[in-house]
Amino acid sequence: MRLSLLSLGLPVILASPLNSSAAKPIYWLLAGDSTTAPNGGWGDAYLSTTVAVVSSGHNYGHSGATTASFRAGGDWGKVIKDVGTNKEKYNVYVTIQFGHNDQKEASGVTVEQFKANLKKFTDEVKSAGATPILLTPLTRRVFSGSKVVQNLAEQRTATIAVAEANAVKFADLNIASENYVNAIGKTAASKYNLADGDWTHVNEWGGVVFSRIVSDILVEKFPELVPFVKKNETLSALIREGKAA
Ligand SMILES: *[C@@H]1O[C@H](CO)[C@@H](O)[C@H](O)[C@H]1NC(C)=O
Ligand SMILES: *[C@@H]1O[C@H](CO)[C@@H](O)[C@H](O)[C@H]1NC(C)=O
Repeated sequence: MRLSLLSLGLPVILASPLNSSAAKPIYWLLAGDSTTAPNGGWGDAYLSTTVAVVSSGHNYGHSGATTASFRAGGDWGKVIKDVGTNKEKYNVYVTIQFGHNDQKEASGVTVEQFKANLKKFTDEVKSAGATPILLTPLTRRVFSGSKVVQNLAEQRTATIAVAEANAVKFADLNIASENYVNAIGKTAASKYNLADGDWTHVNEWGGVVFSRIVSDILVEKFPELVPFVKKNETLSALIREGKAA
């Protein structure tokens, strides 16, 4: 006699939970300046070393970008288009990290405009069907005595204010990276410099270390990301303990 599950009256699960929104892998779109971009930022290492296999993404970091030029130059349009392309198959997250260039007098971007531009980015990500995450700007590794100079404090505060006023997810990369650089000190921090004397951009290993910081602070705040992260517990422990990696 042949028994089928149906004839036994057992419940048959028709809809696989694998296609539910919660279980979709993540597509990461990284928006930012040179500290996110390939060759000097954390973005490429984020995608290649912290994102678990089924997830994926694209680094749209653009060297020299402000929140204004990133839109005017067409990068932002590509990010939003990519949300549309990927949102059926993935949960799309867009990280937004600016400040290094916006803060320069020559950028012509005031702090108020910086905030308005960030808000508009997050609104458009939401309308496009993805989740925005604001990141406060990666610290520069410029020391005064034994401490890192806090020269992005205004952009950090502004970014957090936009996130809090608009119920947008954010993570404080500025403080997390600053704390780590302070903990390891100037000599160890110099090993991440893209070139001699470049205390802003990171070399390949610096990208791995700082992208791990990004990943760790995101996971700590947003546990729903845990299944989609490729861990490096050794590196995370060094960072947690403030030891040079
Ligand atoms: C999941 O798959 C089932 C069966 O194919 C389908 O009916 C349902 O609409 C899908 N749900 C989502 C969220 O795609
Ligand atoms: C994990 O971190 C350790 C310690 O920094 C490093 O030596 C190793 O290369 C990392 N592994 C990967 C796969 O990145």
